[in-house]
Amino acid sequence: MENQAVYDDLMEKFKAAFGRDPEVVAYAPGRIEVLGNHTDYNEGYVFSAAIDCGTFFAACKQPGPECRLVAGDLMREVNFTIDKVEPSQTDTWQNYVKGTFAGLQELKPADSGFCGMFLGNIPLGAGLSSSAALEMCTGLALAKLYGIVTDQVTMAKIGQKAEHNYAGCKCGLLDQISSLAGKPGMLVKTDFRSIEFENVDMGRDACFLMCNTKVKHRLVDGGYDRLRANCEAAAAHFAKRITSHPVTALRDVAMTEWALYKDGLDEAVANCAAHPIGEDERVLLGARWLEEGDLAGFGRLMFDSHESSRVLFKNSCEELDLVVDIAKKIPGVLGARLSGGGFGGSVVVLVGPRDAETAAAAIANAYRARCGKECEVSLIRPSAGARLVK
Ligand code: GLA
Repeated sequence: MENQAVYDDLMEKFKAAFGRDPEVVAYAPGRIEVLGNHTDYNEGYVFSAAIDCGTFFAACKQPGPECRLVAGDLMREVNFTIDKVEPSQTDTWQNYVKGTFAGLQELKPADSGFCGMFLGNIPLGAGLSSSAALEMCTGLALAKLYGIVTDQVTMAKIGQKAEHNYAGCKCGLLDQISSLAGKPGMLVKTDFRSIEFENVDMGRDACFLMCNTKVKHRLVDGGYDRLRANCEAAAAHFAKRITSHPVTALRDVAMTEWALYKDGLDEAVANCAAHPIGEDERVLLGARWLEEGDLAGFGRLMFDSHESSRVLFKNSCEELDLVVDIAKKIPGVLGARLSGGGFGGSVVVLVGPRDAETAAAAIANAYRARCGKECEVSLIRPSAGARLVK
């Protein structure tokens, strides 16, 4: 099994904390966002992939209403009861679990408490969606424990609601869907209007490097919600002016229409709107390039995507720009862009497998030489999605 050592560690810690073995264990991976940035809540398209690190959640029922939850890395325990599942302002890690449990309880109220512990190996704040992974492994494990049957989209929405109401970030559905829908060696292509997804093969000539700048991006600081509000304000503006077809989200606005009808919008808001609109066009074009086996064409779209983030959406930062700039000049690199919310975190690089190792070292060295800081570069294998493992 993937990440067996983490699983073994969790089993040992679970027994030490609760004096018994778990009844259920679920695993959920992190994700990379490959193309299509901030398009999910604009009802657009994204290419993403589940990755080979993730989080396990182990649980068993216990009599009475009390729940005991332990963060396996810190061995910190919090307690609450099934009828009082409230977000914490201080130990925020518990909110992803509590929010997911609360969402499941809306489907079927719990008849008793649980003992739960989670442990994973996704670097935090790296833009790899450790929080969505935690929600999805919690959701799968607790759904099984309480006999709740859900489909993947419902589960993803429960995770999203936990982010909105318990963690304080109005994220879209990308992270949860990617964690659930991954397949080894495959991308996930999602249409966030119909919330339908398919797995797309990139072929043997592609792999990814994730370059973690370690600049901490905290989506809950308000930057993300502000960008989302800009997109929604712009969509409302276009809805009033475009009469040839309904506009309910930026997904409905073409770049040509943006240019025709943007007058009257604040310049920063108009530029914001141009980013997801352009990204949707790039994802659709990228799908064509992949079908035709044109990885270089797909990679160029990734560079364009980053440029659009940097100039229009303004969700990049110096460190991310530097990595992309360095990657562009390295032989074998086909594309590079920021991955996820932005404001720090990681750059995802598309590279041929033969060049991956040398490109990784070259990026890390050049980054150190140019800014004196370290950037952690790791090879990412698109991997299987979330599942029950016990
Ligand atoms: C974060 C959010 C996602 C998505 C991306 C940007 O990862 O959680 O819903 O909006 O940013 O594409």
